[in-house]
Amino acid sequence: MASLQDLQDYYALGRERDRLDRGEGLLEALRTHELLDRWLPGAPGIVYDVGGAAGRYAVPLAEAGYEVHLVDPVPLHVEQAREASAAARRPLASVVEGDARALPFDDASADAVLLLGPLYHLVEREDRLQALREAARVLRPGGVVVAAAICRWASTVDGVLAGFLRDDQFAQIITDDLADGVHRNTTGRPGWFTTGYFHRPEELRAEVEEARFQAEGPVAVEGVARLADDLDEQLADATLRERLLGLVRATESEPALLGVSGHLLITGRKGA
Ligand SMILES: C[S@@+](CC[C@H](N)C(=O)[O-])C[C@H]1O[C@@H](n2cnc3c(N)ncnc32)[C@H](O)[C@@H]1O
Repeated sequence: MASLQDLQDYYALGRERDRLDRGEGLLEALRTHELLDRWLPGAPGIVYDVGGAAGRYAVPLAEAGYEVHLVDPVPLHVEQAREASAAARRPLASVVEGDARALPFDDASADAVLLLGPLYHLVEREDRLQALREAARVLRPGGVVVAAAICRWASTVDGVLAGFLRDDQFAQIITDDLADGVHRNTTGRPGWFTTGYFHRPEELRAEVEEARFQAEGPVAVEGVARLADDLDEQLADATLRERLLGLVRATESEPALLGVSGHLLITGRKGA
């Protein structure tokens, strides 16, 4: 995986607290909430948000009646999550530093585990499988994992859409991403995504199944909507927003379009 130092350097800007407020981040959040509503068992229940960062999903879930425990290896995120919890209508049950591959929870103790981050930070397949097996260990029979991946072609689409191809270093990173999915950022440019792994959709499903989950998905999170060049304006208009999200929903499982999405989400149910 990226070293803890890499993670801390990348996340030192503290952007996880506000990243989901606008543009593609807002689109990602709207769709992620929609998919969590669809896939999580109803509240109350116990949810472990692993890689939960500043608590942007954990806090609303706690406020919706779940008992939510957040785990993240980055101390700044733990601090931000504690602050968000203290300001919430209903606080998080716990916030601790930790790693998806060795969770500080008992066997069969949760109804749902969120892995909305760890899999794309774990470069080695065996590490990703370990994180998924840990999720399976702490889930009760019938419990669900919801896991996020960054799509193999995310940087390619960004390069074309945002004009990053003009930057020689970015262009080289894209070429490397396409070759084997390992995203290597040795540029030291602040804000550029750190070392990670970008999945093909079928690889993500295979990993979830190898950890013995009954998989559903993956589906596109942002899907075709991320191609809009006036995304904030479209999301601010109630009618346009519903049309746009409706199109993403209608095409979320379309194999020919999955690759355009920045993120993929998949769910897996633990057998009895
Ligand atoms: C881009 S953030 C996503 C945060 C939030 N879950 C979301 O979806 O907006 C990825 C998160 O995964 C965390 N992370 C990275 N490696 C991890 C690991 N091995 N175990 C647990 N969390 C990890 C990072 O610290 C970071 O908070």
